[in-house]
Order: sequence, then C-alpha cells, then structure tokens
Amino acid sequence: MVANREISATEAQRDSECGMWNSELLARASLCASVPLWWTRIALMKNLGILLSGRGSNFEAIARNIAAGKIPHARIAIVISNRADAGGLETARKLGLKSRLIPSKGKERKEHDHEVVAALQEHKVDLVCLAGYMRLLSPWFVRQFPGKILNIHPSLLPAFPGLEAQQQAFAYGVKVSGCTVHFVDEELDHGPIIVQRAIPVLDTDTEHTLAGRILEQEHIAYTDAINVVLEGKYEIVGRRLVRQ
Ligand code: GRF
Repeated sequence: MVANREISATEAQRDSECGMWNSELLARASLCASVPLWWTRIALMKNLGILLSGRGSNFEAIARNIAAGKIPHARIAIVISNRADAGGLETARKLGLKSRLIPSKGKERKEHDHEVVAALQEHKVDLVCLAGYMRLLSPWFVRQFPGKILNIHPSLLPAFPGLEAQQQAFAYGVKVSGCTVHFVDEELDHGPIIVQRAIPVLDTDTEHTLAGRILEQEHIAYTDAINVVLEGKYEIVGRRLVRQ
C-alpha cells in the first residue's frame, strides 16, 4: 500500500530497480515538479536481452512492435547470438541495436553461459527473450534470471517439444497447432505457459505452409507475452499463469 504522500525520484527509482512494477509510484513521481516526465518514462522502461541463433524473425517482430509503441515499457538493450552467421545479428545492426557475437562452438556450456550472462548483466537486462536460440540454458543460467527468461516454441506445448516441432505436428496429423510462449525453467520447453495461439491445420497444408502460418502467430504471441510479463499483473499457481 502506498501512503498518500509525495515521493521522490530516488524512491521511485529504487522501487523500479527492485524489479517491481509500481506504476502508481512512478506516475505520482511525475507529478512532482522536480521530476521531469522523460525521467519517469525511462524509469518505467525495462531492458530486454534477446538471444538468438538464426534468422531472427521473432526478434525483428519484437523490435518493430517496440518501435510502433506496442510494447510500451521495453527497449532492446542487447541482441546476442552464439552463431556468426545468424541473420538476426545483421538485422540488429540495421536497426541500430547493440549486438554481440558470443560464439559457443568449441566451448563448454558453463563457459559460454557465463559469458552470455555477463553480457546480459553488463547491459542491465531485466527480461531475457530466447528467440530461436538453439542452446539449452544451464540450470545456473536459469537461476541468474528467476522468472525472467521467456522462450517461444512453434507448437502447442506440451505437444511436440524439441526440434522441428512444426514437422512433428504435421506428421502426427494434428488438426490444430500453434505456438507457445513460456517461462524457461531447467527442463526443455517446459516452464509455465504465458501465451498460446492456435491455428487449424488445413487439408491443403504442407509442412512449409503450416510452419509459415505458425510463425505469423509467433510474431503476435511474443509481443503479447512480453506485455503480460512486464505488466506483472499475474501470479503463478502451480504451473498456471493466472492474470489478476
Ligand atoms: C521459431 O519457430 C521459434 O518458435 C523457434 O525457433 C524459430 C526461430 O525463428 N524457437 P526466428 O529465428 O525467430 O525467425
């Protein structure tokens, strides 16, 4: 409960740095003559760290949605790829975003994870978004950002975890498929589900057309999930994310 008194910029910032989303405090801070509006906007912003290994269309959709004001409380602080040939790295450069190549080839998982976490911390990342990141995170990595790592998977989990989920679903003959954005825990494609979007599998579909239509949904779902998490109006009950 916030007492009915004027608050200082320092107090609002401390609250924001605690990872809490107390927009009431920040909004009231902006009413104080001494706190400019731009400051409260910046204080409300959360830093996203994007991890990718490939073409980066999910990352690009997030970046474009931020630019369009559809993810009002986030900015991309850093884009990290473990592969030099990732198209997403080039996209980041074109969009004028900070990017970094941290190669994983030939490295122990522990060593690579430590390098990536150090880069995320250096850029003060609040929320890590895996966007086609083809690496399993070590339990240590997951513990560095508790409840703050998201992943997108191209199936309706728990169906078809792992690689080539769209092909798995198509070959299985499902009539409905889609995508899932979930929190990352220590198991593969497993943490609590934040958003799912479903589409019908058409008789005329091929693996390719199905994957393409799922991807369109992914680009919507990731933005929705980031907004849910950054708004913070939810609780995790067992495995369930319940909106408040
Ligand atoms: C997407 O299908 C995503 O669901 C999966 O990897 C793919 C990445 O695609 N985790 P892109 O690099 O974002 O285009």
